[in-house]
Amino acid sequence: MVKKHSDISHAMSIKVSSIPANIRLVRLEEDMITPPFESEDEDLNNFLLNDAKNYLKSLLAITYMYQTDDETIAYFSLSNDSLIKNEGEKPGWNKINRAIPNDKRRRSYPAVKIGRLAVAKKYTGMGIGSLMLLTGQNMYINEQQRAGCRFLMVDAYRDALPFYQKNDFKFLTEQDVNDDTRIMYFDLKAV
Ligand SMILES: CC(C)(COP(=O)(O)OP(=O)(O)OC[C@H]1O[C@@H](n2cnc3c(N)ncnc32)[C@H](O)[C@@H]1OP(=O)(O)O)[C@@H](O)C(=O)NCCC(=O)NCCS
Repeated sequence: MVKKHSDISHAMSIKVSSIPANIRLVRLEEDMITPPFESEDEDLNNFLLNDAKNYLKSLLAITYMYQTDDETIAYFSLSNDSLIKNEGEKPGWNKINRAIPNDKRRRSYPAVKIGRLAVAKKYTGMGIGSLMLLTGQNMYINEQQRAGCRFLMVDAYRDALPFYQKNDFKFLTEQDVNDDTRIMYFDLKAV
């Protein structure tokens, strides 16, 4: 899958002039050589460079990258998942349910999980992280989508919580408020 720069530039806050003109969206394949990638998170760098293909081979996650020929600018990986009712947290679940017609309400809803997401250090603050979230959303609301999927989910790093909040992700529960990561969701129906 290849997206041209012109398709990308409409995303609101992208500072286009700072992004290489030949940037493209690429789905990681087993026989691909991944151009270098350096975000501020070593684990996320290692995942892309050393483990993402194993996840692909095992059908556990698919990874998408924004790249040029020379470098990987950002990436995210996706896996199918469910948004599941947390028994101890009624208010949060009621909020989710309010957006679902009465007779369609369940104890879990189909979702896709952002397993990993990172932007290379030198490209942070340019809107590329937000662009990846938009890209992920669009993948699940277009007419090629083969299975129902209502929510995007992420187990977000504490430092990245403001980033997801700015992009309209909500907290699922207050029970993880003191944890290192927090579960957040985005309702695809809102797109
Ligand atoms: C978090 C990350 C993906 C954000 O990517 P990015 O391209 O810099 O984000 P954007 O430029 O799209 O930022 C969108 C908004 O979120 C805010 N934001 C981004 N990162 C933030 C942070 N760490 N703290 C506070 N706000 C942040 C920005 O200020 C921006 O708001 P603005 O448009 O009003 O200025 C990137 O910093 C990163 O890769 N971090 C290391 C890995 C990581 O934490 N990944 C998340 C795993 S769950």
